[in-house]
Amino acid sequence: MRKAWLRWTTLGAAALIAAGCATYPDEATTRQRAEKMVSEDFSAPMPALLKRLVQDKSQQICSKIDDAKLTQAEAAEVAKLAHASIKYPQSGKLVGDWKVGNKLAHDGAGDRIQGGKLEKRKENGGLCQNCHALAPGEINVGNVGPSLTGYGLQRGNSEATAKYTYEKIYNAWAYFPCSNMPRLGATGHLTPEQITHMVAYLIDPQSPVNKK
Ligand code: HEC
Repeated sequence: MRKAWLRWTTLGAAALIAAGCATYPDEATTRQRAEKMVSEDFSAPMPALLKRLVQDKSQQICSKIDDAKLTQAEAAEVAKLAHASIKYPQSGKLVGDWKVGNKLAHDGAGDRIQGGKLEKRKENGGLCQNCHALAPGEINVGNVGPSLTGYGLQRGNSEATAKYTYEKIYNAWAYFPCSNMPRLGATGHLTPEQITHMVAYLIDPQSPVNKK
């Protein structure tokens, strides 16, 4: 008797849940509605920000909204697009001035909204400190990315290291498809020259990053 009661209650609950689920919109509609809400929020006073809502091919691949894992073919496609996006400085020199890099690495400026308007600025900051530990002893640093303290001590400053570091900063997805590191050069946030200064900051033996 008691078992029958339990069975009917369970069945009833299952039916209610199923009915509830049936009223949810499908994935495509949910996505469309969410994108519309975001674009309405970023509208009129800041049209410059609207272009960010248009996803490029690799961002589309990386933005799958279910938990489906990236397939090998998709990861390879993202890495290929990332490599193809990389532009090098006109000077051909990948290692700039670590002192300029030091300033940039700790500068978080770039498309900030203040009082409803885009902040005026001469150049964007590197944002590195938001996510990475840099010189030893700095405490106000992020930990979204791995620590870069002692980067040059561990990897040296060969041409190959400079090239990897330049490409990694220009488009992180060339080496780690869909990672949480922004594609700083490919999205136009940093210029190739700025990136050469960041490379120097990470690999120059004189840089504070490589002091003990
Ligand atoms: C929003 C967070 C974020 C910002 C901003 C960011 N990074 Fe990263 N970075 C990451 C994450 C996460 C990883 C690890 C995943 C990967 O390799 O893409 C990473 C990895 C790296 C690596 C590879 C480390 C290795 O062991 O090979 C380097 C080099 C690097 N970042 C440098 C920088 C520099 C320089 C800046 C600033 C110009 C910067 N990052 C800005 C999140 C960030």
